[in-house]
Amino acid sequence: MMKRLRLMIPGPIEVAPEVLAVMAEPLVAHYGKEWTVFYKEILGMLRRIFQTDGDVFLFPGSGSAGLDAALGSTLFPDGKVLIPQNGFFGERLEEIARSYTTNVHTIDFPVGRVIDLGAVERTLQDGNFDAVACVHCETSTGVLNPIQELATLCRSHGILFIVDAVSSLAVESLEMDAWGIDICVSASQKGLESPPGLGVVAVGKRVWDRINHAKSPGWYLNLKVWKEYTEKWGDWHPHPVTQAVNNIKALRVGMERILKEGLDARFERHRKITQQLRQGLREIGLTLYVPDEIASHGVTSVLGPDSKVDELLAYVRKQKGILLAGSLGLLKGKIFRIGHMGPSASKEAIDEVLTALRKGLRAIQ
Ligand SMILES: Cc1ncc(COP(=O)(O)O)c(C=O)c1O
Repeated sequence: MMKRLRLMIPGPIEVAPEVLAVMAEPLVAHYGKEWTVFYKEILGMLRRIFQTDGDVFLFPGSGSAGLDAALGSTLFPDGKVLIPQNGFFGERLEEIARSYTTNVHTIDFPVGRVIDLGAVERTLQDGNFDAVACVHCETSTGVLNPIQELATLCRSHGILFIVDAVSSLAVESLEMDAWGIDICVSASQKGLESPPGLGVVAVGKRVWDRINHAKSPGWYLNLKVWKEYTEKWGDWHPHPVTQAVNNIKALRVGMERILKEGLDARFERHRKITQQLRQGLREIGLTLYVPDEIASHGVTSVLGPDSKVDELLAYVRKQKGILLAGSLGLLKGKIFRIGHMGPSASKEAIDEVLTALRKGLRAIQ
């Protein structure tokens, strides 16, 4: 058995006991009248969280399944897409896009800095792009990108806007329809407070023309196929494949918690806890990697004690039973990340982390 650790990583997150309990319930069938009514309620709850009147699809898989579906269903074979990026998950978007179209353009901003709107606007003016795709919270650093402003830019150029909200949905303010986001992708294991296993894709009404005319390859992650089954089998089996029934039931309990708290109150709680955590980290002598103004509210990155990041994280894990995350790519070994989403956006959770770090810093000196 693996040791039980408190997960203070940017996903999967610690989920509430009532969410976990559902995972152990006897299985139900993924079809029939009762299931269909239940499933449609789930989609309705997701619509409230995305703040959209569009369609929502739940893919058994992870967030990347959702991203693959979004990019593949709109870009194949030669859609021209711009991907402004500032870290590992922006590069991941690029990698997925390149598997569907050769017409991928990027603007590379320094890691740890925010995406510059002026540079994006200049590129769009010269470009004839079909789509822009961008990460909302760049989880590898905790930089929050200006998605609302990017959406406005895309609208003014009549360009499709696809957002990776895997680590921001239900953590950060995000209003899909009001801001003008066309496709928004997330996953179950972060802000949605449930176990990993589901990719979530919300598709705005404007996008269907493009999806219906794109010659998307494949079947499983093809949004056109999912829409067809929603219509064709809508009254008994509103998805083309066997669904991850218990994951979906757990997601419902996670979403009930979210909607009961209220989205605005929830965003405010995440903001407040982030401020308290950042202040606490400064007080114990650590340096924050990302400036306050562009910091996300679900993941905080910290410049580690020189060449001792791994040692510090090992202390916190072994002595205190708390799992923190290192980082990816060029930042590996230089920064570490603290995830504080959902139930972990609490004073009690961050106080435990701060105490463990304070002791760890002393121990590794
Ligand atoms: C911003 C972002 N995009 C994409 C992914 C990939 O999601 P998954 O691992 O669920 O496929 C992650 C995972 O952490 C992420 O944080």
